[in-house]
Amino acid sequence: MGMSKSSLAFLVLVFAFFVCYVMSSGSYDYFQFVQQWPPTNCILRTKCSKPRPLQNFTIHGLWPSNYSNPKMPSNCIGSRFNFTKVSPRLRSKLKISWPDVESGNDTKFWEGEWNKHGTCSERTLNQMQYFQRSHEMWNFHNITEILRNASIVPHATHTWKYSDIVSPIQTAIKRTPLLRCKPRPKSQTKSQPKSQAMSQLLHEVVLCFDYDALVIIDCNRTAGCWNNVDILFP
Ligand SMILES: *[C@@H]1O[C@H](CO)[C@@H](O)[C@H](O)[C@H]1NC(C)=O
Ligand SMILES: *[C@@H]1O[C@H](CO)[C@@H](O)[C@H](O)[C@H]1NC(C)=O
Ligand SMILES: *[C@@H]1O[C@H](CO)[C@@H](O)[C@H](O)[C@H]1NC(C)=O
Ligand SMILES: *[C@@H]1O[C@H](CO)[C@@H](O)[C@H](O)[C@H]1NC(C)=O
Ligand SMILES: *[C@@H]1O[C@H](CO)[C@@H](O)[C@H](O)[C@H]1NC(C)=O
Ligand SMILES: *[C@@H]1O[C@H](CO)[C@@H](O)[C@H](O)[C@H]1NC(C)=O
Ligand SMILES: *[C@@H]1O[C@H](CO)[C@@H](O)[C@H](O)[C@H]1NC(C)=O
Repeated sequence: MGMSKSSLAFLVLVFAFFVCYVMSSGSYDYFQFVQQWPPTNCILRTKCSKPRPLQNFTIHGLWPSNYSNPKMPSNCIGSRFNFTKVSPRLRSKLKISWPDVESGNDTKFWEGEWNKHGTCSERTLNQMQYFQRSHEMWNFHNITEILRNASIVPHATHTWKYSDIVSPIQTAIKRTPLLRCKPRPKSQTKSQPKSQAMSQLLHEVVLCFDYDALVIIDCNRTAGCWNNVDILFP
């Protein structure tokens, strides 16, 4: 009797470890492909690696995501980032599509994104594929151009409604994207007229992809911008 009780306990333990393993080695529903607007990064940070930030949307990351748990998954069990697994040819392309605009160390940025996010989808995309696919998405969905074609271009004072910015992207990709904004830093709003004091900065555009990172789908998470607050595209 004592024996069977402890072997039952053992089985329960094995099962618990198994569940933990499956969860930490990554399970997800879809991908968020996040592009950022470097000038906003540079307004929020005191210092940027380049004196004049890039006027191009660049990659922040490709994030395997869970519909019911916005923070999950991350930092999964998997291979650590290894520079040599990304071909030199791809690396030179990533320097344009996926630069670190803040510290200037691109490799460190890629390492952080792989270890935090890429490890959670490693069974779908290995390191080379993860970076390759992200670069292709960036190439194929040129947010800078979509917005420029709709006459939405950076401006120091003009503000936009959320739908002004989302609509042309939606028309171009035929799916609903998500925008993410950041509050304007206090130092920027002090001397501004009241209408602009209450505004937010466009920071990121998120496109959503299916489990295999091949088919673009609607994003249905709530937007990362305040409702009814004008958006500045700096
Ligand atoms: C998403 O997260 C929930 C809650 O943590 C979890 O129960 C579910 O299994 C996760 N879904 C996937 C596909 O990993
Ligand atoms: C934007 O990216 C393209 C690569 O497609 C590059 O040729 C161009 O120089 C970039 N523009 C700026 C302002 O960085
Ligand atoms: C990185 O990958 C290369 C080639 O796949 C391999 O030879 C090397 O041992 C790896 N380095 C580490 C630290 O895992
Ligand atoms: C950049 O980051 C990589 C990865 O963390 C690191 O190995 C390298 O030393 C860094 N380079 C510089 C110039 O700091
Ligand atoms: C995206 O569009 C911008 C503006 O038209 C252009 O400068 C850039 O080269 C394009 N990038 C790619 C990857 O085609
Ligand atoms: C932007 O407009 C140009 C010129 O009309 C067109 O060739 C290009 O395909 C458009 N790009 C996008 C992404 O809609
Ligand atoms: C988003 O779509 C997925 C897949 O269709 C669904 O499971 C999920 O419940 C939706 N979430 C919200 C917040 O609508």
